[in-house]
This record gives sequence, C-alpha cells and structure tokens, in this order.
Amino acid sequence: MRVVSGIQPTGNLHLGNYLGAIRNWVRMQDEMEQGSECLFFLADLHAISMPHDPAELTANSLEMAAALVACGIDPNKSILFNQAQVPAHAELQWLLMGTARMGWLNRMTQWKDKAGKNREGQSVALFSYPVLQAADVLLYQATHVPVGDDQKQHLELSRDIAQKFNNDFASEDAPVFTLPDPYIPPQAARIMSLRDGSAKMSKSDPSEMSRINLTDDADTIMKKVKKAKTDPEPLPSEAKGLEERPEALNLVSIYAAISGKEVDSVLGEFGGQGFGAFKPALGEVLVETLAPISERFRDLQEDTEMLQAILARGASKAREIGTPTLDAAYEALGLVRG
Ligand code: TYM
Repeated sequence: MRVVSGIQPTGNLHLGNYLGAIRNWVRMQDEMEQGSECLFFLADLHAISMPHDPAELTANSLEMAAALVACGIDPNKSILFNQAQVPAHAELQWLLMGTARMGWLNRMTQWKDKAGKNREGQSVALFSYPVLQAADVLLYQATHVPVGDDQKQHLELSRDIAQKFNNDFASEDAPVFTLPDPYIPPQAARIMSLRDGSAKMSKSDPSEMSRINLTDDADTIMKKVKKAKTDPEPLPSEAKGLEERPEALNLVSIYAAISGKEVDSVLGEFGGQGFGAFKPALGEVLVETLAPISERFRDLQEDTEMLQAILARGASKAREIGTPTLDAAYEALGLVRG
C-alpha cells in the first residue's frame, strides 16, 4: 500500500482541508502496516499556476508544513516534502504531456471554474495542472490517494493517463504505472462555505467569514459559527429533513464529522431545536478539536530550521522512491539518457 497526497501551500489550512483530507492522511499514517508508505507533499509547483507573490509562497510553504505536523503528520512515519525539491515531478509531468489529451483537460471542472470566462488569459500551467497532479501520484506508484470530493475528477484523469501510457508504451505484464484509487471519506468529503451552502469552503473565497481556519482562536471560531448562514426552521429529527436545506446540512455534517457521529444521531440529539441552541454546541466541539492543533502550530511555526530540515529529509527519500519509475517512463518512451 502506498499512500500519496498533496495540498497547495496557499493561505491557511481550513476546516474543509482538515475534514476532507488531512485527518484521513493522519489516520492512514497511523494505521499503516509494515512495508506500506505514506508520502505527503506541499504542491508548491501547482501554486504557481495562479498569480502569486514569491516571498509569500516561501513563507506559506513553511507555514503549511507546520500546520500538517500540528495536525498529526509525523515526519518519522510519513515522508513530508515539497514538490520543488523533487525535480522528478516536473520531469514526469512533461513525459505525460504526450499522453494527456486536450479534450480530457478541457473537461476538468476546476479548470472551468478557475478560468471562468477568461480562458485565453490563463496560464498554461493552470490548464495542464492535472497532468502535474497525475505525475505526483504516478511517480510513486500510489495505490491510495486520500482527497476531498473536489479532487475526484483529477484522480480519474490520473488513472486515464496511466492507463493510456501503459497501453501505448508498456507491455501488459510490465506496466510502468499503477492505477491509483482515490480515497474519499464517506463523511465530510465536501465541506461548504459558512456563507453559502452551494459553494465549497475554499481558501480563495474573499470572505474570511466563509471558512474556519485551523489557526482561528476560540472567539473567532464562535463568531464565525454564530454568523453562519442558516434558515429559520428548527432542525429536523432525521437526515431526510435536511434535503433542500444546504446550510443546515453543512453545519450538521461538520458537527457529525468532528464528533465522530452519524448525521442521524446528531439530529436525534438536536432535532426540534433551533440554531440558537445548535450553533454554540457546534462552536464548542470545533474549539475543542482545533485549539490543541493551533497551539502546536504556533510552537512549530517558529522553528523554521526544523521545518526546513523535515522537508529536506522528506525530499531526499521521495527522490529515491521516485527514481525507478521516472527511469522506466523515460525508457518506455525511447528517450536516451547517457
Ligand atoms: P487543495 O490544496 O485545494 O486541498 C487539499 C485537500 O483538501 C481537500 N479539500 C476539501 N475537502 C472537503 N471540503 C472542502 N471544502 C475542501 N477543500 C479542499 C481537497 O480535496 C484536497 O484533498 N490539486 C490539489 C493538490 C494536489 C494533489 C496532488 C492532491 C496536487 N497534487 C496529488 C492529491 C494528489 C489541491 O489543490 O488541493
């Protein structure tokens, strides 16, 4: 079993990232059997697909490394690194460019959403972004890729690229790439904005009130939860009653995911009550879970040297693990290298 996943080091880690992905990274790391490996990385190469400030990217990368360790990623159990220190990601992306089809990339909803009406003005990197993402996982022969629901389509594309490359350039009994399986959690795979139940919680939302950051203090968390958009109805006593109530569904789902309960059991407790009672309870479980993480984060963040050493050590292991696959890809394509 080889677990591989990444996160863009842009801005803060938010509750969507935590519940949709990072929490599962930690679980998979902790439940790993001997001979299995977890590789988690900062997708800094992906971050340059959008306009960015170089100094901010450097600072954000270290901050994200601190946040991941604060959430429970243990650099002694998992390989933690940033893409920029492992050139094989960019190399393999180029090798896969001949296999990926324009039509496949054109169908990516993230590309459509981010480009909007101004496709002509976007960077080539934003368009080819999913090919780099395919390289990220295929380089390590990933078997499991824990991600939130929004990355499912990119993972399907990675499988298509791997399949086509194997078909075109490898024999059936010696494929170059393993087809990776996305691991999308049954709960909290898509946490929505606190201001709009139809938009996902995201780092790029201009409103700070739309998301809970892992570094928010208790007062801020409470304020954001209390100001979260809701409807005037009391909570139903069964999950079915949340259909057509996206904001209520989102808050109840967050409560369920954080407290490790089923949505029906949360509604068994709060059904019939209004948000005046539910929101403070939600705020409390959030503060309880996030306070120790943000405390660890603040301590770790100050030790830049340690964070740099963790990333350097991780990158060196990642380079080693990726080399045979990169070599096999060059060879399969007939590229001669000294
Ligand atoms: P990114 O940085 O946007 O998000 C990191 C992880 O958090 C999940 N996530 C969410 N889950 C539930 N609800 C939400 N509102 C929410 N918002 C984000 C994402 O699904 C993701 O798992 N392209 C990727 C980074 C990447 C990657 C990879 C991931 C690059 N290469 C290879 C897996 C494998 C991204 O931008 O994630």
